[in-house]
Amino acid sequence: MMHMEAGQRVGVDECAPRSISPRLLELGLADFRDPRGSNMVARCEPFREWVDAASEAGLFQFLRHHDGAPDRVSEVVGWGGQRYVGINFASQDYLGLARHPAVLSAAEAALRRFGAHSAGSEPMGGGLAFAKALEREIADYVGHAHAVLFPTGWSAGFGTLQGIVRPYDAVVLDALAHNCLQLGAKSATDAVHHFAHNDMDSLRKRLHRLRDASPDQAILVVTESLFSMDSDSPAFDRLVSECREVGASLLVDVAHDLGVLGEQGRGLLWESGCHKDVDFIMGSFSKSFASIGGFLATREKGTSYYVRGFSGAYTFSNYLIPPQIAAIRAALGVARSDDGEALRRDALSRATWLREALESRGIRVLGRPSSLVIPFVGPEPVARVAYRSCLENGVILNNIEYPACRRGEARFRMQVTPLHVQDEIETAANVVSAAIKDARLHYSGFAKARARGA
Ligand SMILES: Cc1ncc(COP(=O)(O)O)c(C=O)c1O
Repeated sequence: MMHMEAGQRVGVDECAPRSISPRLLELGLADFRDPRGSNMVARCEPFREWVDAASEAGLFQFLRHHDGAPDRVSEVVGWGGQRYVGINFASQDYLGLARHPAVLSAAEAALRRFGAHSAGSEPMGGGLAFAKALEREIADYVGHAHAVLFPTGWSAGFGTLQGIVRPYDAVVLDALAHNCLQLGAKSATDAVHHFAHNDMDSLRKRLHRLRDASPDQAILVVTESLFSMDSDSPAFDRLVSECREVGASLLVDVAHDLGVLGEQGRGLLWESGCHKDVDFIMGSFSKSFASIGGFLATREKGTSYYVRGFSGAYTFSNYLIPPQIAAIRAALGVARSDDGEALRRDALSRATWLREALESRGIRVLGRPSSLVIPFVGPEPVARVAYRSCLENGVILNNIEYPACRRGEARFRMQVTPLHVQDEIETAANVVSAAIKDARLHYSGFAKARARGA
């Protein structure tokens, strides 16, 4: 990669018109979700037009990619072709292990020894004996006895629900639970219900209504230990007691805190002491563990066997590949070591600096301290313009809008690593707070007019 400085913008002038068509701010992904018409090909075209126009204006927050490694300072290319160089807060490398020597050498050795490919799915003989150690290690880390590996975290969530829930069962999800959980539930049963985000009274009401109506129905409650769009968590004690009271099973997705929060990085669920009462703990290796992949950990062998027997995502998808397994094992080893302890301390201190720096500049930051720092923005038009401004001024982050959060509650997601330094955090706080304030000044009127239907 060429020498870069954050804030350097390459080739943006010729492709980013400064005047903004209202259509680019008014419409969002959700407006294109249900196109009508019998021609399935033609009805995609308005979406393409909108994506291309928003991308050319630098306002489309998706499909940006890295040109080079996703480092602390990275060069990225927007879908519209703009190049930006910035301090990177959009990499899910929570412990900064992506280039850790132990991870690199383990992945390289596995690549040389076993090749780049897995032979097939695990049930079809594609498993690798050396991954059995990873199963034991990850199960032990989260406090359960058994684990099943999946090629991605998404397939672990989807595959567990689809594998374990039958059409006559009910699933009750936190309204903001991850897409893999929502779709997994939908694929398994029509009896999919929601409770208000992290609201245990709402969960209780929902569970009792279901139990009163169907005394024998199996119910699975599904939530996350740390929500990545809000950096908040459910009250684990209450979650467990509500499930117990009606005889419901419980699944918790620990993707965003495992490795980085709690004693030895074992996560918030472990820290709460409630992990033993959770039937299904699933997570991802793409956040703290410098790779990609997912797992399901269970207390009982029976549930792990059942998922192995009946999950399409597990049975009909090739097994994890050797360098992936080796990288995950090495990253898990670091996470459990004294080095891991130091990395966690650094990760949290930097996240706290960034939170405080933003708050001291008048920006509301959502949730609790974690690797995820979530400055609240509000109306989508404001967020889109502020997002563009952040990129142009050398800060790479993600803009989160409906349907990933509620309408009118757009926010930025900044993922902090132990490798970020104080100067970068100060710069980021300046750029982000100025971008949000400036966009509010110029686009709040637009947002209000939109809310009135003007
Ligand atoms: C809560 C949650 N679960 C599962 C996943 C899927 O994990 P992966 O990206 O490793 O497939 C994600 C990814 O963003 C997530 O946020």
